Amino acid sequence: MSTDIDILVIGSGAAGLTAALTLARHARIALVSKAELGAGATPRAQGGIAAVLAAGDSVEQHIADTLDAGAGLCKPDVVRFVVERGPEAIAGLIRLGVPFTRGDGGKDEFAYHLTREGGHSVRRVIHVDDATGRAVQTALEAQARAEPNIRVLEHHMAVDLITSRHLRGGKPGPERCHGAYLFDRRAGRVIALPARAVVLATGGASRVYLYSSNPDGATGDGIAMAWRAGCRVANMEFNQFHPTCLYHPQAKNFLVTEALRGEGARLTLPDGTCFLDRYDRRGELAPRDIVARAIDHEMKRRGLDHVLLDISHRDPDFVLAHFPTIYRRCREYGIDITKEAIPVVPAAHYSCGGVLVDRAGRTDLDGLYCIGEASCTGLHGANRMASNSLLECLVFGQAAGEDIRARLDDLAPPGVPRPWDESRVTDSDEEVVVTHNWAELRRFMWDYVGIVRSDKRLERARHRIDLLRQEIADYYGNFRVTPDLLELRNLLEVADLIVRSAMARRESRGLHYSLDHPQTEPEGKDTILAP
Ligand code: FAD
Ligand code: SIN
Repeated sequence: MSTDIDILVIGSGAAGLTAALTLARHARIALVSKAELGAGATPRAQGGIAAVLAAGDSVEQHIADTLDAGAGLCKPDVVRFVVERGPEAIAGLIRLGVPFTRGDGGKDEFAYHLTREGGHSVRRVIHVDDATGRAVQTALEAQARAEPNIRVLEHHMAVDLITSRHLRGGKPGPERCHGAYLFDRRAGRVIALPARAVVLATGGASRVYLYSSNPDGATGDGIAMAWRAGCRVANMEFNQFHPTCLYHPQAKNFLVTEALRGEGARLTLPDGTCFLDRYDRRGELAPRDIVARAIDHEMKRRGLDHVLLDISHRDPDFVLAHFPTIYRRCREYGIDITKEAIPVVPAAHYSCGGVLVDRAGRTDLDGLYCIGEASCTGLHGANRMASNSLLECLVFGQAAGEDIRARLDDLAPPGVPRPWDESRVTDSDEEVVVTHNWAELRRFMWDYVGIVRSDKRLERARHRIDLLRQEIADYYGNFRVTPDLLELRNLLEVADLIVRSAMARRESRGLHYSLDHPQTEPEGKDTILAP
C-alpha cells in the first residue's frame, strides 16, 4: 500500500467526502476513517443547512446574520465566499439525490421547506425532516464508494502526520507534509501512508467535555496532529454549547434540534414560565451563546438540573411530520412531545476554533489542508450561527479539492518515511490509567472551562493539564498505542489549546464568557497560538 495513492483524505464526514469527490476524477485518493465512514458528526446533524434559497432572502442578509452571531470576529470576505456558494452547494446535493423536505406548494414558494434556527432573521435552513445529516452522509458516501479512484480505508486511525523529519536518511529538505502514520485497528499495527498532499477533515473536539452532543470520536485528532506538525491554531476558546440536549439518565448525547424552536417551541422553567425574553429581544431565536448562557444562569440560580422545551401546543400532525426522529427517540424514554415538554440541558456541541487555514483550506504546512469542523476559516467568529457548519464543510471541501487539483502537477511525490518504531515499547499493563485520565480531563474541562469561566477556574484547569501531560507522555513513550490512548493524547493537547486561548482572552465575547472580564473590547481580535 505504500505509493499507490496521490492524496490522503483523513475523515469521511461532509467535508472529507466533498473534498474526495471533487478530486476523484483527477487523482488517486485514500479516504480514511478511524471507524466506519459514517462515524462522525455529519450523520447526526438534525436542523439542516443554511443557504440563501427563498425569494425573500438575500446574500447580504445571510452575511449580516452570520456576522452578528459571530460577535465581531468573523472574517467578512470568508463569510461572503461561503454564503455566495450556498445555493450551488445545495443544488449539488439535490443532484446527488438528497431528499430535502418539500414545501407546502404555495405558488410563489421555493419548492423545499425552509425552517428557522437561532440567529437567522428569515427562514433559510433546508432540511430532510429532522435528520438532515444522515441523508447528506448517505448520498455522499454512496457516491464515494462508487468512485474507482477512491480507496476507502475504514478502521484506520491517523496517529500523526509524516513531515520532512520523519523521512529516511539524508537531509530532511524543506518542511512539508508527506502523508500520515495510520493505526490499522483490525491488524493492530501502525503503517506509514505517503501522499503528495493530505487533507485533514477529522471533525471537532467537543468530547473534551463531560457532556456533549457529539459522537465518541470527536476528540480533536486533526487539530492535535496539525499542531504537533507545526501549524498554528486559532480561536480555540470558542467552544459552542448547544442549548438543548435531552436530559434523561439513559439518553446518551441526544440533541433536540433548534429547529423545534424555529417552529414555535418555547424554553421554560419547570413551572412553565418562559424566560428567554429577559435575556434577548429575539427570545427563543437568539443566537446559541446567549440561549445556552441564559439556561446555565437559570439552572445555577434556581438549583435546577434541567429546563423544559415545549412544542406540545402545536398540531400533533405537524410535530410528527417535521420531527419524526425526535418524536420516536423521546417516546423511547417515555416522553410524548406532542403532549408534554422535553427536559433539556446544554452540552458541548461545536468547536468554532481549529487549524488556521486560508480560503482554499491550506494550513501553515506545505501539502497539508484542513477543512470542516477541524479548521478555523473565519466563517464562525466567536459563535457559529446554526446550520452554517454543514455549509462550510461543503464549500471548503470543494475549495480544497479544487486547489489541490490545480496544483497536482506541482505537488512533488512524497519522500520515503521511516517505518513506525515499536522496538522499545510493550503492551500496556495498566489500561486504567487511560480511562481514569480520560474521565478526569473531561470532568474538569466541564467544571472549569465550560459556559462561564473565571481566571481561577482556568488556572485550576491549566494546573491539572500540566500534571496529566507528563503522565500521558510517559505512557505514550512506553506502551504500544491503542485508539483510546491516541484519543486521550489528542484530547489533552486540545484541552491545553482551549485553556491557553481562554486565558489569553481578557474580555467576554461570543461563546467565551469570563466572570473576571465581563466587558467586550471595542475591537475583536483572533486568538492565534503558534507551536
Ligand atoms: P465529521 O462529520 O465529524 O467527520 C469526522 C471524520 O473524521 C469521521 O469520519 C471520523 O471517523 C474521522 N476521524 C476523526 N479522527 C480521525 C483520525 N485520527 N483518523 C482517521 N479518521 C478520523 N451542523 C449544521 O450545519 N446543521 C445541523 O443541523 C447540525 N446539527 C448537528 C447535530 C449534532 C448532534 C451534531 C453533533 C452536530 C451538528 N452540526 C450541525 C454540526 C455538524 O454536523 C458538524 O460540524 C459537521 O458535520 C462536521 O463535519 P466534518 O466533515 O468536519 O467532520
Ligand atoms: C440543531 O439542529 O439544533 C443543530 C444545528 C447546528 O448545530 O447547526
